[in-house]
Amino acid sequence: MINLKTQVGIIGAGPAGLTLALWLKKQGISSVIIEHRSREYVEARVRAGLLEQNTVDIMTDLGVAVRLKKEGQEHHGVYLSFNGDRIRVPFGELTGGRNITIYGQQEVVKDLTNEWLRGGETLLFEAPAIKIANIDTDSPEIHFEHQGELGRIDCDFVAACDGFHGIGRKSMPSGSYKEFSVTYPYSWLGILANVAPSSEELIYAYHERGFALHSLRSDKISRLYIQVDNDDREENWTDEMIWDELAIRLGTKDWELKRGPIFEKSITPMRSYFIDNMQSGRLFLAGDAAHIVPPTGGKGLNLAIADVKHLVDGFSDYYLHQSKEKLDHYSEIALKRIWRAQDFSNFMTTLFHKSDAHGSFTYQLQKAKFDYIKSSKAYATMIAENYVGLPF
Ligand code: APR
Ligand code: PHB
Repeated sequence: MINLKTQVGIIGAGPAGLTLALWLKKQGISSVIIEHRSREYVEARVRAGLLEQNTVDIMTDLGVAVRLKKEGQEHHGVYLSFNGDRIRVPFGELTGGRNITIYGQQEVVKDLTNEWLRGGETLLFEAPAIKIANIDTDSPEIHFEHQGELGRIDCDFVAACDGFHGIGRKSMPSGSYKEFSVTYPYSWLGILANVAPSSEELIYAYHERGFALHSLRSDKISRLYIQVDNDDREENWTDEMIWDELAIRLGTKDWELKRGPIFEKSITPMRSYFIDNMQSGRLFLAGDAAHIVPPTGGKGLNLAIADVKHLVDGFSDYYLHQSKEKLDHYSEIALKRIWRAQDFSNFMTTLFHKSDAHGSFTYQLQKAKFDYIKSSKAYATMIAENYVGLPF
């Protein structure tokens, strides 16, 4: 039996769990992390890569932004396109100088993991939590398995940062939360390709053939997505078909899409999910454990980091000022930002995806919104300030 003792027991070594651990350490609060998967698996998992200004600032404060600053790309605007009509929303003048940075999520995870282990801290990989016990007492426990052995973490608090499929949410008492879930009638086929980006900033495009997004990872690697049906499969798409479709959907005058070898291809469903209570007794949920947003606003990772910020505020107040006030209100505070992000992600998703026939009522509303962005600084500002992330 492995027996660990700490102040905050953390389940999950994704962006939420790792950031929480490092931030607590900075406040002098101890924690240990257990992670279901192997280190290789977690560090290779390809996901979105858009970091809000807040997230970059937090990584910088935690001392884990050296590579991010070197390899990440700061963007000062974003292109929005509607059937070939492309406009740019500049962040600087609309948000008072806030920006986004493009840096792959798995790179963030690598940097956070390295920093945690470099400090000699405990992180067990291939150690799934199997039960969370005694959350209504002052000494909750996390039970886990590791290399054929059973283990237990005795802690003051449990932070379930264990993603959508983790056991954190399932360990909340039944009836302690309400669930909201929307599944969109389309998915994203995403690719990584060995080719220089065709645009220095992201392009979100509505097209009558469906949504497309141009993003990037570096000067040599492009990341692109197209809307496909929910029952579509990667095998249905040859590389040529994908590039042809991207060229049409992203196309505008005097612009050409560069093509190159595709080395990653996967389909992601689009959904909005959240629960309206993220804590019970001494159990706290953060990140994907409590909410999923469709990736169109680039909010998933940033929302997880925002939860962590509020959770750190709560734990700091408890340990440094002997007050439970902020912890007691954690869920209420975090949910305000989550609702905002849900709304913005839904707005971006429904604005740019094709869900009804060209010329239909839905289409006309999409077109009206796009025209309004073009003509109204106020509306463009709404998009820019949500996209770069509202200040805490
Ligand atoms: N025991 C231990 N670890 C677990 C368990 C368990 N029972 N269940 C899940 N995990 C681990 C997963 O293997 C994963 O590594 O928890 C981790 C959760 O990490 P993420 O899924 O990355 O979630 P989070 O840290 O909240 O980050 C949110 O991830 O899904 C993206 O778009 C989302 O960018 C957002 C970010
Ligand atoms: C990405 O680069 O993977 C990315 C960027 C913006 C999004 C979603 C994904 O909205």
